[in-house]
Amino acid sequence: MTRIGLAGAGLIGARHADAIQVADGVTLAAVADPSEAVGRPVAEKHGVPWLSSLDDLIPRDDVDGIVLATPNQVHVEGGLSCIAAGKPVLVEKPLATDLAEARRLVEAAEAAGVVLMAGHHRRHNPLMTKAKEIVDEGRLGTIASVQATTWFMKPDDYFDTPWRRKKGAGPVYMNLSHDIDLLHMLCGPVVTVHAMDSNAVRGNEVEETAVVLLRFQSGTLGTVNISDTVVTPWSWEMTARENPVYPATSEDCYWLAGTHGSLAIPSLSFWANPAKRSWWEPLSATRFPYPFADPLVCQMAQFGAVIRGEEAPKVTGRDGLAALEVIEAVKTSAATGAPVHLARP
Ligand SMILES: NC(=O)c1ccc[n+]([C@@H]2O[C@H](COP(=O)([O-])OP(=O)(O)OC[C@H]3O[C@@H](n4cnc5c(N)ncnc54)[C@H](O)[C@@H]3O)[C@@H](O)[C@H]2O)c1
Repeated sequence: MTRIGLAGAGLIGARHADAIQVADGVTLAAVADPSEAVGRPVAEKHGVPWLSSLDDLIPRDDVDGIVLATPNQVHVEGGLSCIAAGKPVLVEKPLATDLAEARRLVEAAEAAGVVLMAGHHRRHNPLMTKAKEIVDEGRLGTIASVQATTWFMKPDDYFDTPWRRKKGAGPVYMNLSHDIDLLHMLCGPVVTVHAMDSNAVRGNEVEETAVVLLRFQSGTLGTVNISDTVVTPWSWEMTARENPVYPATSEDCYWLAGTHGSLAIPSLSFWANPAKRSWWEPLSATRFPYPFADPLVCQMAQFGAVIRGEEAPKVTGRDGLAALEVIEAVKTSAATGAPVHLARP
């Protein structure tokens, strides 16, 4: 069993602790959280020690790797401490509060040869593994265009907490990075971003709606539309059945349009012309089956396999960095009105 130390036992940390305990090949070793009120109950639930500091967690001999589910502002500091001690680390998204710091963290891990995974857990969903397989098999032909919809309603009382009304706490930073990461997985890196955002409904400092044009290195074009002030069933949250707190619908949220067929996600409905590719010909629809599994659990099992040297990370630090670059470009483009071009190797 690979033994995992959890730093940060808050909202997502508590779910990681549960996931570690049911994932294959890993077990929870200890929980570190400066808040005893938060950390101790999670540790006690799983029968492991509670520690008040990450510094006490890192050097423990019974900890093979660390999950950093701490606030964004301390990801880099905590991550660098893990790397300095040679402990593999899974860092929750976003890797850092700004790009330069995230880059510093990823480069430190690479220089030290220590595993750093980014917490974009959706990539670990078997449904995305299947979607990627369908794309890689070439069934869609050349993907000319993609469309992603990230629409949901955050209730009024969500904004009673003051920081949620401030810049940086809107759906672009909080939610969109997961969608961008999945688009990167399916279509490769984004090279150009052009965006508009708006706060016209609630009037808070933070954006509530944004529309984004994307150009991928492959030549694919994309549109992403995100809003947290609309009542709709069309977002990953409301369709993928990943987190039971969201009532699931049977709708789709991403559409990939190719020269030989198109794919709707998460239903994995594949549309094609069986005879001749033409808008005058009948279309056939196929739904691909996939196994259901909790991506948080899959992510922890993979972290264990990576620590043991059995697998390469599904989501690297570079992947986390790439998603953060696009998110920052969305905000920059929306503020300036100009497209942002991203340097890609
Ligand atoms: N992958 C996802 O879908 C997802 C979902 C929610 C949150 N997140 C990310 O997870 C991170 C945590 O978010 P949250 O909503 O759980 O926050 P939270 O505020 O509920 O919990 C954070 C916890 O970290 C503890 N903490 C603070 N400094 C620490 C330190 N130095 N060492 C150890 N613990 C420390 C706090 O006491 C708190 O209990 C954020 O980066 C967030 O963006 C990811």
